[in-house]
Amino acid sequence: MRLRTLDDFDLKDKNVLIRVDMNVPMLNGQVTDSTRLTRAVPTILEVLEKGGKPILLSHFGRPTRGFDLTMSTQQAVIALSNRLKKRVHFATSCIGETAQLAVDTLPKGDVLLLENTRFHQGEKKNEPRFAAELAKLGDIFVSDTFSTAHRAHASVEGIAHLLPSCAGRLMEEEIYRLEAVLSTPERPVLAVVGGAKVSSKLMLLEHLIGPMDKIVIGGGMANTFLAAQGHNIGQSLCEHDMQDTARSILENAKVMNCEIILPVDIVAAKEFSANSEHEILPANKCPADAMILDVGPKTITLIKKHLDEAKTVIWNGPLGAFEIPPYNIATNEAAAHVAFLTETGKVLSVAGGGDTVAALNGSGSAKRFTYISTAGGAFLEWLEGKTLPGVAVLMS
Ligand code: 3PG
Repeated sequence: MRLRTLDDFDLKDKNVLIRVDMNVPMLNGQVTDSTRLTRAVPTILEVLEKGGKPILLSHFGRPTRGFDLTMSTQQAVIALSNRLKKRVHFATSCIGETAQLAVDTLPKGDVLLLENTRFHQGEKKNEPRFAAELAKLGDIFVSDTFSTAHRAHASVEGIAHLLPSCAGRLMEEEIYRLEAVLSTPERPVLAVVGGAKVSSKLMLLEHLIGPMDKIVIGGGMANTFLAAQGHNIGQSLCEHDMQDTARSILENAKVMNCEIILPVDIVAAKEFSANSEHEILPANKCPADAMILDVGPKTITLIKKHLDEAKTVIWNGPLGAFEIPPYNIATNEAAAHVAFLTETGKVLSVAGGGDTVAALNGSGSAKRFTYISTAGGAFLEWLEGKTLPGVAVLMS
Protein backbone atom coordinates (compact mmCIF):
# COMPACT_ATOMS: atom_id res chain seq x y z
CA MET A 1 0.00 0.00 0.00
CA ARG A 2 1.27 3.48 -0.83
CA LEU A 3 0.07 6.99 -0.28
CA ARG A 4 -1.25 8.60 -3.46
CA THR A 5 0.38 12.00 -3.97
CA LEU A 6 0.13 15.08 -6.19
CA ASP A 7 2.57 13.38 -8.54
CA ASP A 8 -0.16 10.90 -9.52
CA PHE A 9 -2.42 13.52 -11.13
CA ASP A 10 -2.51 16.02 -13.93
CA LEU A 11 -3.85 19.18 -12.27
CA LYS A 12 -4.04 21.41 -15.36
CA ASP A 13 -7.38 23.21 -15.62
CA LYS A 14 -8.78 21.12 -12.77
CA ASN A 15 -10.81 22.39 -9.83
CA VAL A 16 -8.72 21.01 -6.97
CA LEU A 17 -10.48 20.74 -3.62
CA ILE A 18 -7.80 20.93 -0.95
CA ARG A 19 -8.70 20.02 2.65
CA VAL A 20 -6.47 22.20 4.83
CA ASP A 21 -6.50 22.89 8.56
CA MET A 22 -7.24 26.57 9.16
CA ASN A 23 -8.04 25.80 12.80
CA VAL A 24 -5.45 28.29 14.02
CA PRO A 25 -5.14 30.04 17.38
CA MET A 26 -6.99 33.40 17.27
CA LEU A 27 -7.46 36.35 19.56
CA ASN A 28 -10.04 39.05 18.79
CA GLY A 29 -10.36 37.83 15.20
CA GLN A 30 -6.59 37.95 14.60
CA VAL A 31 -4.49 34.86 13.89
CA THR A 32 -1.97 34.60 16.73
CA ASP A 33 0.00 31.68 15.34
CA SER A 34 0.04 31.04 11.61
CA THR A 35 2.10 27.83 11.54
CA ARG A 36 -0.75 25.80 10.02
CA LEU A 37 -1.32 28.46 7.34
CA THR A 38 2.36 28.62 6.46
CA ARG A 39 2.59 24.85 6.25
CA ALA A 40 -0.43 24.74 3.89
CA VAL A 41 1.32 27.01 1.39
CA PRO A 42 3.48 24.53 -0.63
CA THR A 43 0.54 22.38 -1.77
CA ILE A 44 -1.61 25.39 -2.71
CA LEU A 45 1.23 26.96 -4.71
CA GLU A 46 2.02 23.66 -6.42
CA VAL A 47 -1.61 23.32 -7.51
CA LEU A 48 -1.47 26.86 -8.92
CA GLU A 49 1.86 26.25 -10.65
CA LYS A 50 0.47 23.12 -12.29
CA GLY A 51 -2.51 25.06 -13.66
CA GLY A 52 -5.18 23.95 -11.17
CA LYS A 53 -7.67 26.10 -9.26
CA PRO A 54 -7.19 25.66 -5.49
CA ILE A 55 -10.48 25.52 -3.56
CA LEU A 56 -9.84 25.24 0.15
CA LEU A 57 -12.02 23.37 2.62
CA SER A 58 -11.47 23.63 6.37
CA HIS A 59 -13.11 23.48 9.75
CA PHE A 60 -12.51 26.05 12.46
CA GLY A 61 -13.25 25.40 16.13
CA ARG A 62 -16.08 23.18 17.30
CA PRO A 63 -19.37 24.90 16.40
CA THR A 64 -22.42 23.13 17.81
CA ARG A 65 -25.34 25.03 16.24
CA GLY A 66 -24.57 25.92 12.65
CA PHE A 67 -23.25 29.34 11.65
CA ASP A 68 -21.25 31.21 14.26
CA LEU A 69 -19.38 34.35 13.22
CA THR A 70 -16.61 33.74 15.75
CA MET A 71 -15.81 30.48 13.99
CA SER A 72 -15.94 31.68 10.40
CA THR A 73 -12.95 30.64 8.29
CA GLN A 74 -13.15 34.14 6.78
CA GLN A 75 -11.00 35.28 9.70
CA ALA A 76 -8.05 33.44 8.16
CA VAL A 77 -8.33 35.05 4.70
CA ILE A 78 -5.92 37.96 5.19
CA ALA A 79 -3.29 35.95 7.04
CA LEU A 80 -3.47 33.21 4.40
CA SER A 81 -3.28 35.69 1.55
CA ASN A 82 -0.19 37.24 3.14
CA ARG A 83 1.48 33.85 3.43
CA LEU A 84 0.62 32.83 -0.14
CA LYS A 85 1.19 36.26 -1.67
CA LYS A 86 -1.94 35.49 -3.71
CA ARG A 87 -5.47 36.84 -3.75
CA VAL A 88 -7.72 34.68 -1.55
CA HIS A 89 -11.47 34.87 -2.24
CA PHE A 90 -14.04 33.71 0.27
CA ALA A 91 -17.40 31.95 -0.18
CA THR A 92 -19.93 32.24 2.62
CA SER A 93 -20.92 28.59 2.29
CA CYS A 94 -18.95 25.45 1.48
CA ILE A 95 -21.84 23.89 -0.47
CA GLY A 96 -24.73 24.88 -2.74
CA GLU A 97 -25.17 27.71 -5.22
CA THR A 98 -23.03 30.22 -3.31
CA ALA A 99 -20.04 27.89 -3.28
CA GLN A 100 -20.59 26.81 -6.91
CA LEU A 101 -20.76 30.41 -8.11
CA ALA A 102 -17.55 31.25 -6.25
CA VAL A 103 -15.80 28.26 -7.85
CA ASP A 104 -17.08 29.10 -11.34
CA THR A 105 -16.01 32.75 -11.13
CA LEU A 106 -12.64 32.18 -9.44
CA PRO A 107 -10.01 33.93 -11.59
CA LYS A 108 -7.12 31.73 -12.65
CA GLY A 109 -4.14 32.22 -10.34
CA ASP A 110 -6.29 33.08 -7.31
CA VAL A 111 -7.35 30.91 -4.39
CA LEU A 112 -10.81 30.28 -2.95
CA LEU A 113 -11.48 29.55 0.72
CA LEU A 114 -14.89 28.12 1.61
CA GLU A 115 -16.77 28.70 4.86
CA ASN A 116 -16.33 26.37 7.86
CA THR A 117 -17.38 22.82 6.96
CA ARG A 118 -18.48 22.22 10.57
CA PHE A 119 -21.36 24.69 10.15
CA HIS A 120 -23.12 21.68 8.59
CA GLN A 121 -24.15 18.68 10.67
CA GLY A 122 -23.27 16.37 7.80
CA GLU A 123 -19.56 17.14 8.27
CA LYS A 124 -19.01 15.41 11.61
CA LYS A 125 -21.54 12.69 10.81
CA ASN A 126 -19.70 11.99 7.57
CA GLU A 127 -23.04 12.05 5.76
CA PRO A 128 -22.69 10.81 2.17
CA ARG A 129 -25.12 13.51 0.97
CA PHE A 130 -23.00 16.30 2.45
CA ALA A 131 -19.78 14.73 1.14
CA ALA A 132 -21.40 14.57 -2.32
CA GLU A 133 -22.32 18.28 -2.10
CA LEU A 134 -18.68 19.11 -1.37
CA ALA A 135 -17.41 16.77 -4.09
CA LYS A 136 -19.57 18.53 -6.74
CA LEU A 137 -17.24 21.54 -6.46
CA GLY A 138 -14.07 19.79 -7.60
CA ASP A 139 -12.46 17.39 -10.04
CA ILE A 140 -9.75 16.15 -7.65
CA PHE A 141 -9.55 16.00 -3.85
CA VAL A 142 -6.24 16.66 -2.08
CA SER A 143 -6.03 16.06 1.65
CA ASP A 144 -3.38 18.19 3.33
CA THR A 145 -4.71 17.89 6.85
CA PHE A 146 -2.83 15.27 8.84
CA SER A 147 -3.94 17.25 11.91
CA THR A 148 -7.57 16.29 11.21
CA ALA A 149 -6.88 12.82 9.79
CA HIS A 150 -8.13 11.16 13.00
CA ARG A 151 -11.62 12.53 12.25
CA ALA A 152 -13.76 10.43 9.89
CA HIS A 153 -15.54 13.58 8.75
CA ALA A 154 -17.08 14.27 5.34
CA SER A 155 -14.44 16.78 4.19
CA VAL A 156 -11.63 14.52 5.41
CA GLU A 157 -12.75 10.97 4.67
CA GLY A 158 -16.15 10.77 2.95
CA ILE A 159 -15.24 13.04 0.05
CA ALA A 160 -12.11 11.03 -0.73
CA HIS A 161 -14.31 8.11 -1.84
CA LEU A 162 -16.15 10.31 -4.31
CA LEU A 163 -13.31 11.99 -6.22
CA PRO A 164 -9.86 10.96 -7.43
CA SER A 165 -7.93 11.76 -4.25
CA CYS A 166 -4.40 12.03 -2.89
CA ALA A 167 -2.26 13.46 -0.09
CA GLY A 168 -0.90 16.99 -0.26
CA ARG A 169 2.75 17.81 0.43
CA LEU A 170 2.17 18.61 4.13
CA MET A 171 0.34 15.33 4.68
CA GLU A 172 3.24 13.50 3.01
CA GLU A 173 5.82 15.36 5.07
CA GLU A 174 4.03 14.73 8.37
CA ILE A 175 3.80 10.99 7.81
CA TYR A 176 7.36 10.70 6.52
CA ARG A 177 8.95 12.79 9.31
CA LEU A 178 6.96 11.25 12.16
CA GLU A 179 7.80 7.76 10.93
CA ALA A 180 11.47 8.65 10.61
CA VAL A 181 11.73 9.89 14.21
CA LEU A 182 9.17 7.81 16.06
CA SER A 183 8.60 4.42 14.42
CA THR A 184 11.47 2.86 16.43
CA PRO A 185 12.37 5.60 18.90
CA GLU A 186 15.49 5.53 21.01
CA ARG A 187 14.57 4.87 24.67
CA PRO A 188 13.76 6.18 27.18
CA VAL A 189 10.87 7.95 25.46
CA LEU A 190 9.31 10.76 27.46
CA ALA A 191 6.00 12.42 26.57
CA VAL A 192 4.97 15.83 27.85
CA VAL A 193 1.18 16.01 27.74
CA GLY A 194 -0.75 19.11 28.76
CA GLY A 195 -3.26 21.60 27.45
CA ALA A 196 -6.93 22.24 27.86
CA LYS A 197 -8.65 19.55 25.71
CA VAL A 198 -8.78 17.41 28.83
CA SER A 199 -11.33 14.65 28.27
CA SER A 200 -10.22 13.67 24.77
CA LYS A 201 -6.59 13.56 25.89
CA LEU A 202 -7.32 11.59 29.06
CA MET A 203 -8.47 8.70 26.92
CA LEU A 204 -5.38 9.05 24.76
CA LEU A 205 -3.17 9.01 27.85
CA GLU A 206 -4.55 5.60 28.67
CA HIS A 207 -3.12 4.31 25.41
CA LEU A 208 0.18 6.16 25.72
CA ILE A 209 1.31 4.43 28.91
CA GLY A 210 2.22 1.37 26.83
CA PRO A 211 4.59 2.97 24.32
CA MET A 212 6.03 5.66 26.67
CA ASP A 213 8.64 5.15 29.40
CA LYS A 214 7.66 8.39 31.18
CA ILE A 215 4.80 10.86 30.88
CA VAL A 216 4.94 14.38 32.30
CA ILE A 217 1.40 15.61 32.86
CA GLY A 218 0.77 19.36 33.04
CA GLY A 219 -1.80 21.96 32.00
CA GLY A 220 -5.50 21.50 32.66
CA MET A 221 -5.10 17.74 32.53
CA ALA A 222 -2.85 17.60 35.59
CA ASN A 223 -5.67 19.11 37.69
CA THR A 224 -7.88 16.10 37.10
CA PHE A 225 -5.06 13.86 38.35
CA LEU A 226 -4.40 16.06 41.38
CA ALA A 227 -8.13 16.02 42.22
CA ALA A 228 -8.17 12.22 41.74
CA GLN A 229 -5.46 12.01 44.39
CA GLY A 230 -7.65 13.95 46.80
CA HIS A 231 -5.84 17.28 46.42
CA ASN A 232 -7.59 20.63 46.65
CA ILE A 233 -7.67 22.24 43.23
CA GLY A 234 -10.05 25.14 44.02
CA GLN A 235 -11.65 26.63 40.90
CA SER A 236 -9.16 25.03 38.50
CA LEU A 237 -10.17 23.57 35.13
CA CYS A 238 -10.93 19.94 35.93
CA GLU A 239 -13.11 17.11 34.70
CA HIS A 240 -14.36 15.76 37.99
CA ASP A 241 -16.24 12.91 36.30
CA MET A 242 -12.96 11.65 34.86
CA GLN A 243 -11.30 11.10 38.24
CA ASP A 244 -11.82 7.34 38.13
CA THR A 245 -10.20 7.25 34.70
CA ALA A 246 -7.29 9.27 36.04
CA ARG A 247 -6.86 6.85 38.96
CA SER A 248 -6.96 3.83 36.66
CA ILE A 249 -4.35 5.47 34.38
CA LEU A 250 -2.06 5.88 37.40
CA GLU A 251 -2.60 2.23 38.40
CA ASN A 252 -2.07 0.90 34.86
CA ALA A 253 1.04 3.03 34.47
CA LYS A 254 2.58 1.27 37.48
CA VAL A 255 1.81 -2.13 36.01
CA MET A 256 3.18 -1.13 32.60
CA ASN A 257 6.33 0.40 34.09
CA CYS A 258 5.58 3.88 32.81
CA GLU A 259 6.56 6.63 35.21
CA ILE A 260 3.98 9.43 35.54
CA ILE A 261 5.35 12.80 36.60
CA LEU A 262 2.72 15.11 38.11
CA PRO A 263 3.20 18.65 39.44
CA VAL A 264 4.69 18.85 42.92
CA ASP A 265 4.02 22.57 43.15
CA ILE A 266 1.68 24.99 41.40
CA VAL A 267 1.16 28.66 40.52
CA ALA A 268 -2.33 29.63 41.71
CA ALA A 269 -4.27 32.86 41.08
CA LYS A 270 -7.76 34.15 41.74
CA GLU A 271 -8.01 35.85 38.36
CA PHE A 272 -7.44 34.44 34.90
CA SER A 273 -5.68 37.49 33.51
CA ALA A 274 -2.18 38.61 32.60
CA ASN A 275 0.03 39.36 35.59
CA SER A 276 -2.77 38.70 38.07
CA GLU A 277 -1.73 38.30 41.69
CA HIS A 278 -0.53 34.75 42.21
CA GLU A 279 1.33 32.50 44.61
CA ILE A 280 3.48 29.38 44.43
CA LEU A 281 2.12 26.59 46.57
CA PRO A 282 2.54 22.85 47.11
CA ALA A 283 0.42 20.88 44.60
CA ASN A 284 -2.10 19.90 47.27
CA LYS A 285 -2.70 23.41 48.60
CA CYS A 286 -4.65 25.35 45.97
CA PRO A 287 -7.01 27.71 47.88
CA ALA A 288 -10.76 27.11 47.37
CA ASP A 289 -11.21 30.49 45.59
CA ALA A 290 -8.13 30.21 43.31
CA MET A 291 -7.17 28.26 40.19
CA ILE A 292 -4.01 26.53 39.05
CA LEU A 293 -2.53 28.38 36.08
CA ASP A 294 0.93 26.86 35.81
CA VAL A 295 3.22 24.31 37.39
CA GLY A 296 5.68 25.71 39.93
CA PRO A 297 9.51 26.03 39.96
CA LYS A 298 10.14 22.73 41.78
CA THR A 299 8.12 20.94 39.11
CA ILE A 300 10.11 22.67 36.37
CA THR A 301 13.35 21.41 37.95
CA LEU A 302 11.87 17.91 38.21
CA ILE A 303 10.76 17.96 34.56
CA LYS A 304 14.23 19.08 33.44
CA LYS A 305 15.82 16.20 35.38
CA HIS A 306 13.59 13.69 33.59
CA LEU A 307 14.22 15.38 30.23
CA ASP A 308 17.97 14.97 30.84
CA GLU A 309 17.45 11.21 31.17
CA ALA A 310 15.37 10.89 27.97
CA LYS A 311 16.56 10.05 24.45
CA THR A 312 13.31 10.87 22.66
CA VAL A 313 10.87 13.60 23.70
CA ILE A 314 7.33 13.97 22.44
CA TRP A 315 5.42 17.10 23.40
CA ASN A 316 1.70 17.75 23.14
CA GLY A 317 0.05 20.55 25.08
CA PRO A 318 1.36 23.45 27.15
CA LEU A 319 2.15 23.03 30.87
CA GLY A 320 0.20 26.13 31.92
CA ALA A 321 -2.02 28.95 30.66
CA PHE A 322 0.74 30.00 28.25
CA GLU A 323 -1.34 32.72 26.54
CA ILE A 324 -1.17 34.96 29.63
CA PRO A 325 2.12 35.80 31.31
CA PRO A 326 3.55 34.86 33.74
CA TYR A 327 1.73 31.53 33.37
CA ASN A 328 3.90 30.69 30.36
CA ILE A 329 7.05 30.27 32.45
CA ALA A 330 7.01 26.49 32.89
CA THR A 331 6.18 25.86 29.22
CA ASN A 332 8.90 28.26 28.07
CA GLU A 333 11.57 26.92 30.41
CA ALA A 334 10.88 23.27 29.72
CA ALA A 335 10.68 23.94 25.96
CA ALA A 336 13.99 25.83 26.01
CA HIS A 337 15.53 22.84 27.80
CA VAL A 338 14.23 20.38 25.19
CA ALA A 339 15.56 22.71 22.46
CA PHE A 340 18.98 22.79 24.15
CA LEU A 341 19.07 18.98 24.52
CA THR A 342 18.07 18.64 20.86
CA GLU A 343 20.74 21.03 19.63
CA THR A 344 23.42 19.27 21.65
CA GLY A 345 22.41 15.93 20.12
CA LYS A 346 21.13 14.42 23.38
CA VAL A 347 17.50 13.92 22.33
CA LEU A 348 15.30 13.75 19.27
CA SER A 349 12.26 15.92 19.88
CA VAL A 350 8.87 16.14 18.22
CA ALA A 351 6.09 18.53 19.21
CA GLY A 352 2.58 18.74 17.84
CA GLY A 353 -0.73 20.56 18.25
CA GLY A 354 -2.05 24.07 17.56
CA ASP A 355 -1.57 25.43 21.09
CA THR A 356 1.67 23.56 21.61
CA VAL A 357 3.24 24.99 18.48
CA ALA A 358 1.94 28.47 19.36
CA ALA A 359 3.49 28.12 22.83
CA LEU A 360 6.82 26.86 21.47
CA ASN A 361 6.89 29.57 18.79
CA GLY A 362 6.21 32.15 21.50
CA SER A 363 9.24 30.96 23.44
CA GLY A 364 11.40 30.79 20.30
CA SER A 365 12.04 27.07 20.85
CA ALA A 366 9.96 25.56 18.05
CA LYS A 367 12.63 25.91 15.36
CA ARG A 368 15.13 24.11 17.56
CA PHE A 369 13.05 20.92 17.94
CA THR A 370 13.81 17.99 15.61
CA TYR A 371 10.33 18.19 14.06
CA ILE A 372 7.19 20.23 14.62
CA SER A 373 3.96 18.57 13.57
CA THR A 374 0.84 20.61 12.84
CA ALA A 375 -1.19 17.82 14.43
CA GLY A 376 -2.32 17.53 18.04
CA GLY A 377 -4.89 14.78 18.66
CA ALA A 378 -4.09 13.12 15.33
CA PHE A 379 -0.41 12.99 16.24
CA LEU A 380 -1.23 11.26 19.54
CA GLU A 381 -3.56 8.77 17.86
CA TRP A 382 -0.93 8.04 15.23
CA LEU A 383 1.53 7.47 18.10
CA GLU A 384 -0.84 4.92 19.61
CA GLY A 385 -0.55 3.02 16.34
CA LYS A 386 -4.15 3.71 15.33
CA THR A 387 -5.14 3.77 11.66
CA LEU A 388 -6.18 7.34 10.89
CA PRO A 389 -9.24 7.32 8.61
CA GLY A 390 -8.08 10.45 6.78
CA VAL A 391 -4.81 8.73 5.87
CA ALA A 392 -6.16 5.24 5.17
CA VAL A 393 -8.48 6.62 2.50
CA LEU A 394 -5.50 8.01 0.55
CA MET A 395 -3.70 4.66 0.28
CA SER A 396 -3.89 2.23 -2.60
C1 3PG B 1 -6.70 20.22 15.94
O1 3PG B 1 -6.68 21.41 16.32
O2 3PG B 1 -6.12 19.31 16.57
C2 3PG B 1 -7.40 19.89 14.64
O3 3PG B 1 -7.74 21.04 13.93
C3 3PG B 1 -8.60 19.03 14.90
O4 3PG B 1 -9.54 19.74 15.67
P1 3PG B 1 -10.65 18.98 16.52
O5 3PG B 1 -9.93 18.35 17.70
O6 3PG B 1 -11.65 20.01 16.91
O7 3PG B 1 -11.22 17.91 15.63
